[in-house]
Amino acid sequence: MENERKKRILSGIQPTGTPTLGNYVGALKNWVDLQKEDKYECFYMIADLHSITVKQDPKVLRKNSLDLLALLLAAGLDGEKEPIFFQSHVPQHSQLGWVLDCYTYMGELSRMTQFKDKSAKHAENINAGLFTYPALMAADILLYQADMVPVGKDQKQHLEITRDLAKRFNGAYSDTFVVPEPYIPKVGANIMSLQDPMHKMSKSDTNENAYISVLDDPDRIMKKIKRAVTDSEACVRRGEGKEAVENLMTIYSVATGKTMEEIEKEFDGQGYGVFKEKVGEAVVEMLRPIQENYNEIMKNKDYLEKIYRDGAERARYVANKTVSKVYRKVGFIQP
Ligand code: TYM
Repeated sequence: MENERKKRILSGIQPTGTPTLGNYVGALKNWVDLQKEDKYECFYMIADLHSITVKQDPKVLRKNSLDLLALLLAAGLDGEKEPIFFQSHVPQHSQLGWVLDCYTYMGELSRMTQFKDKSAKHAENINAGLFTYPALMAADILLYQADMVPVGKDQKQHLEITRDLAKRFNGAYSDTFVVPEPYIPKVGANIMSLQDPMHKMSKSDTNENAYISVLDDPDRIMKKIKRAVTDSEACVRRGEGKEAVENLMTIYSVATGKTMEEIEKEFDGQGYGVFKEKVGEAVVEMLRPIQENYNEIMKNKDYLEKIYRDGAERARYVANKTVSKVYRKVGFIQP
């Protein structure tokens, strides 16, 4: 019965390069933890349709997509238990995306900070897909009747518009969609650039020292952390003007499970040299098992194919139910 089912989770990540420490801490780690809790039915998706809102080289996109699938499995997701799939393999995303486009106002879309940021960054390619991105993202979530969506803080605004769209549609046609809640971690929801603590860590940053990729080798990780900007106070604590140090403390907190208070105590009276060494080591240790698993999984392309084929089949089954319901409600003749 629909109302006796486990609560559902849906989340997605774009295949636009190797995920960063920010992606891992803000989202992927929680995807794994939530799946392990076994309280939810989890659908995890590689958002390839979304990725072409910014120009992609087809060869690179294909490689990034498969690499990302391997990485999600390496991070601990169980693709046999629950679906992990490519968005483009489930046509219902585009089908519901179109319907939701027709219920989303231009004014709402113009207020989206991601649209503003990306159009500033890609001024030569401000396309319609970039503008209507949030309606497709709402479709991703609403298709699966997801109760909860684990994301980093930068996706909060997209979750809000998704909730508005769900309520708008439900109001117009009777209950159709579950209104989803965002799941944003208390620590690590917004990991900042190592070179500029006012900007989020992003895999598209042109300065490689600004981010740690989850596949960076230990030497590279240590170097990047050592080069991270700090401040002139040489004191490991939070506070006004301490954003860069606080960002490193957050990373250390997630990697070790220690609270911010414990970290302040641990480094009381010590300079940034010792602190950075410890942060670097903790990050290396956190990422080590993922990197080892990744290299193993990449050797088995047949396994990857099995995971994404099965995943898409299971996703299509659930998504189709929602699209049929929506098409009926808006007044389309049943095929
Ligand atoms: P994407 O691919 O940019 O990022 C994937 C996830 O990583 C989180 N994240 C961060 N968290 C903390 N600190 C950071 N510096 C950081 N950078 C990224 C993001 O919040 C996200 O959770 N639009 C989405 C993909 C998407 C999606 C969806 C997500 C498509 N459909 C449906 C949820 C539900 C995106 O571009 O994520």
